[in-house]
Amino acid sequence: MNRFEHIIYGADYNPDQWLSHPEIIDEDFRLMPKAGMNSASIGIFAWKELEPEEGVYCFEWLDDIMDRLAKQGMKAVLGTPSGARPYWMDRDHPEVLRVSDVGDRYYHGIRHNHCLTSPYYRKKVHEMNTRLAQRYKDHPALGMWHIGNEFQGECYCELCQEAFRSWLREKYHGDIQALNEQWWTYCWSRKYSGFEEIEAPSPRGEYLIHGMNLDWKRFVTAQTVSFIKNELEPIRRYTPDIPVTTNLMGRSDTLDQWKLAEILDVVSVDSYPEWCVNGQSHARVAQFAAFTFDINRSLKKNLPFYVMECTPSQVNWYDVNRLKKPGMNELTSIQAIAHGSESVQYFQWRGARGASEKLHGTVVGHNGKDSTRVFREVSILGERLKKLDDVVGSITKSDVALIYDWENKWAIGDLMGLTKPLDYDEICEEHYIPFWEEGVSVDIISMDHDFTEYRMIVAPMLYSVRPGVADRLKKYVADGGTLILTFCTAYVNENDLCFLGGFPGDGLMEVAGLEAEEIDALYPEEFNQVTVLSEETGAESGSSYRSCSLCEVVNMQETCRSLAVYAEDFYKETPAVTVNSYGKGQCFYFATRVEVEFLKKFYHKRIEEKGISRNMATTLPDGVTVQRRQKGDEIFDFILNFTEEEQQVRLDEDIVYADVLERQRITEKEIMLPAFGYRILSHRNK
Ligand code: GLA
Ligand code: ZN
Repeated sequence: MNRFEHIIYGADYNPDQWLSHPEIIDEDFRLMPKAGMNSASIGIFAWKELEPEEGVYCFEWLDDIMDRLAKQGMKAVLGTPSGARPYWMDRDHPEVLRVSDVGDRYYHGIRHNHCLTSPYYRKKVHEMNTRLAQRYKDHPALGMWHIGNEFQGECYCELCQEAFRSWLREKYHGDIQALNEQWWTYCWSRKYSGFEEIEAPSPRGEYLIHGMNLDWKRFVTAQTVSFIKNELEPIRRYTPDIPVTTNLMGRSDTLDQWKLAEILDVVSVDSYPEWCVNGQSHARVAQFAAFTFDINRSLKKNLPFYVMECTPSQVNWYDVNRLKKPGMNELTSIQAIAHGSESVQYFQWRGARGASEKLHGTVVGHNGKDSTRVFREVSILGERLKKLDDVVGSITKSDVALIYDWENKWAIGDLMGLTKPLDYDEICEEHYIPFWEEGVSVDIISMDHDFTEYRMIVAPMLYSVRPGVADRLKKYVADGGTLILTFCTAYVNENDLCFLGGFPGDGLMEVAGLEAEEIDALYPEEFNQVTVLSEETGAESGSSYRSCSLCEVVNMQETCRSLAVYAEDFYKETPAVTVNSYGKGQCFYFATRVEVEFLKKFYHKRIEEKGISRNMATTLPDGVTVQRRQKGDEIFDFILNFTEEEQQVRLDEDIVYADVLERQRITEKEIMLPAFGYRILSHRNK
């Protein structure tokens, strides 16, 4: 597989919007190298220009763009145009149009809305990709394939419904009774007599069988995967050495990204955190972004991922679209690299003249100038990225993994009872923030990943567990691992059936050393308090912290000890945070959602106690983190300041650091980071 030797730097480039303005395209090719760019993502929405009428192909303009890229030594991230269809296709083959969950077929328009099953669309996409692959397979500009765009959503047409039924037949081995049992259709007389009776979930029909909803979501992922595989077939056949990716959407709710990542050569992600949002610190947004980057890095372990899109300034789709302040684009781009990215690609190179994206941030604005603040900052970054070749190929190693699992997220999103809103992502982030602040790298894994390589596994709200997971967690702890579980652990199996015999189910009660007998739900404005009993929590004995959302009332077994208790309500003085020794390891349990200030102390203690490596020994100022990549014994530490103030960071005493961008040894023991500043330091493993 061909790999890039440099950090990829470029943008979504849509010359197909400017074909009647050749002077603009000439200007683009003058400016792209000036901005330090070495790549461009092209052709992503170009179907109409590539096949203006059915069977009439027109690739000459793309040949020209590819040739110009090659001439400038740039690489194309070549798109397949399946993300949006030309009018003639929808008019002549309406089966490609998506059908809504209440059975309405959509009209032609916008994008990301093809039927996932349509044999005609799959055939057309296959044909188009074959032509692209045949035509450009030996082209020197071809660097990577970009399949479709931001796969998302679902279709409820009869073809998709039938495919869903087939998928279910396979999953349940043709046994409708097995399905009835897992979906618990006994409630409200919903028992199916045959697979042909099943319809996809719909607000106009059945939508309250949670097992069915989960299977539907699994099916939609499977159907998307099979759609992409069809796209990949000719591409892999003609260009086996060119890596393929598709731009994932960070934390898309609808598709299980682990499954999509499996069929790609490299993961890429579109990154649009809401910077400068009112009332939120830059650090908090940085933590959100960091968590997303770590997910995407972990989707393919030990490989870089790519940021396929980000904006150099603002987007056009938040309610209020704040600019990135001076320095922020560089810092947030370097942040992605710190977490494992090997690209910075913008959306988009030049501002569209009309339609919805005309005011989206771009490298070149409507004034066409290269003297703008954004262009200047983009160019400076371009020069700096050229100095990061050594970082290419380095990876992140983590002692800690946090389980973030799409199927679990779906189950939590759908659950009725308890409290709403219950934001699984936010709860996971609360357990991630302490590590970010300590400068400890974290892998984000699904529950299917190997646990054995980690010293600590954090599993917030592991509500729905797939078969075998509980046993693997048990073994992990028995063999000496440290496991952190929280309220709502193992209430249901993978099909949303409650475990019988008490929670946490599936044998995890033994590991946690307790049974969660009841669970109280609080209103968003309500709180309980936990009072610390033991400094083993990392917090001072007698101190108290707020807890919210959910409070389980638990019964401890003999091996389990209470580290903090509730301060209020009838379950006052009963355990809220516990630890259980199990085999050679320990399992900590949070029966309630305790505030992050407590989690910081708790994880600080665990990091010290378990000898988990920090990327820098010093206590970091608020809003500063250190993320690490390594290659052999060469280490790269990225020190990032997400505040608008200067920050001072004490370097590790016994390490000889060099500044990667300055290519200089560092003699000071303390470095100053300007507002939104960063340093990339390298050193050798001792
Ligand atoms: C998405 C799409 C792009 C563009 C940007 C705008 O990420 O992939 O085509 O529409 O949003 O932010
Ligand atoms: Zn369909």
